[in-house]
Amino acid sequence: MTLDLSRFQAKGTETCFHDRHLGAQIVAGLNGSNWRLADYVARGGYSALRKILGVDGGEGMTQDQVIAEVKLSALRGRGGAGFPTGLKWSFMPRMFPGPKYLVCNSDEGEPGTCKDRDILAYNPHIVIEGMAIAAYAMGVKTGYNYIHGEIFEVYERFEAALDEARAAGFLGDNIQGSPFSFQLHAFHGFGAYICGEETALLESLEGKKGQPRFKPPFPASFGVYGKPTTINNTETFAAVPWIINNGGQAYLECGKPNNGGTKIFSVVGDVNQPGNFEVPLGTPFAKLLELAGGVKGGALKAVIPGGSSAPVLPAKTMMDITMDYDAIAKAGSMLGSGAVIVMNEHRCMVKSLLRLSYFYQHESCGQCTPCREGTGWLWRVIHRIEHGQGRADDLALLDSVAHNIKGRTICALGDAAAMPVEGMLKHFRDEFVHHIEHKTCMVAQTV
Ligand SMILES: Cc1cc2nc3c(=O)[nH]c(=O)nc-3n(C[C@H](O)[C@H](O)[C@H](O)COP(=O)(O)O)c2cc1C
Ligand code: SF4
Repeated sequence: MTLDLSRFQAKGTETCFHDRHLGAQIVAGLNGSNWRLADYVARGGYSALRKILGVDGGEGMTQDQVIAEVKLSALRGRGGAGFPTGLKWSFMPRMFPGPKYLVCNSDEGEPGTCKDRDILAYNPHIVIEGMAIAAYAMGVKTGYNYIHGEIFEVYERFEAALDEARAAGFLGDNIQGSPFSFQLHAFHGFGAYICGEETALLESLEGKKGQPRFKPPFPASFGVYGKPTTINNTETFAAVPWIINNGGQAYLECGKPNNGGTKIFSVVGDVNQPGNFEVPLGTPFAKLLELAGGVKGGALKAVIPGGSSAPVLPAKTMMDITMDYDAIAKAGSMLGSGAVIVMNEHRCMVKSLLRLSYFYQHESCGQCTPCREGTGWLWRVIHRIEHGQGRADDLALLDSVAHNIKGRTICALGDAAAMPVEGMLKHFRDEFVHHIEHKTCMVAQTV
């Protein structure tokens, strides 16, 4: 079958093909067509895997040494929660008899986020190498990459890269002549946002309806087919070869304490040059905004700093902040998946929240009452405020519904639906009050 990959060719600012990265590791040297094995090897690819296996003339590394290096690096999961990767790897019961699994989460459904698809389409071998290193460290023989169903071309690209890696002995039995064997398979989902939640992903991978499991037990003890499983995000695995090649300390020093390395931010919304930007964690937001060409269409009003689930922050806070997990959490939001949604002064926050709340009520899997009923309730109340039918007690109602969803659900989608509401009401309450009292938009009147 001939694939039409034309829409994945370099277009400059829409993707990662530009020179406006800082200290790039994952996207360094990519041009849109150099994704093949030979290109990756020419960039130094698979040297980290060969290093740990000791097939490059060196001593090799033990499983504990690899995990220690990842712990030292302060690499934190790039899928949203920012959990320390080395620590997660240490939870895998390596002595467990029978199968254990490694899963890559390439579901990438968080609105605004578009980095994992770039990594998979343009540098797939870096993910394969990162997964092979992780599998070695945790004593795993089988892995899956769960790829979002709406980017089928990326799935096929990854399959092609898997074929190359197998043929060259970087996957399969006795990798590079060593005793280590690892089989890796691609799996495509069907486009549901909830399948990015790790336990819903596992259900979907097993061929069932993608609904989250109650935790505990956590995937480390009860994952795919009930066996110990480690799940990491695409970008998390892509960071690993650099850490092994250069050392955990060097990676840590690229970022900030507790926030090691670089991060790919998808800067979207009202900016002149949207795209994916790889920069060190701890880079000032003002610098990132500059890399994205500055605000388009007016002055900066607000930013959602970590994908649509993250609470919005006002311009003034953002212009003083650095882009790392701890600084953004301290300011009352989260770095999340790294989608930075920039909003200019002409954006109505009621309308913006209406769009976000529609998304969450649509994507709720319906298992738990607070999320199933609450997300629809939030959307309906915001809808009437936006359309001039808001009631005097609606803001108290929104506060109450959001509060009663949070922490009372099986998975974090409930929190993800509630947090944007709380953030908007905290920082832009006056706009909601205006809509209710005057039945018109405050922003529309000022432009
Ligand atoms: C509703 C929901 C959607 C999620 N979607 C994704 C996703 O698309 N990709 C992802 O890597 N993590 C996603 N996560 C987080 C995963 O559950 C999990 O924490 C992550 O894959 C772990 O990898 P990491 O430690 O490398 O970040 C989602 C979580 C929730 C609650
Ligand atoms: S919180 Fe929502 S998405 Fe998550 S399990 Fe409950 S109903 Fe489903």
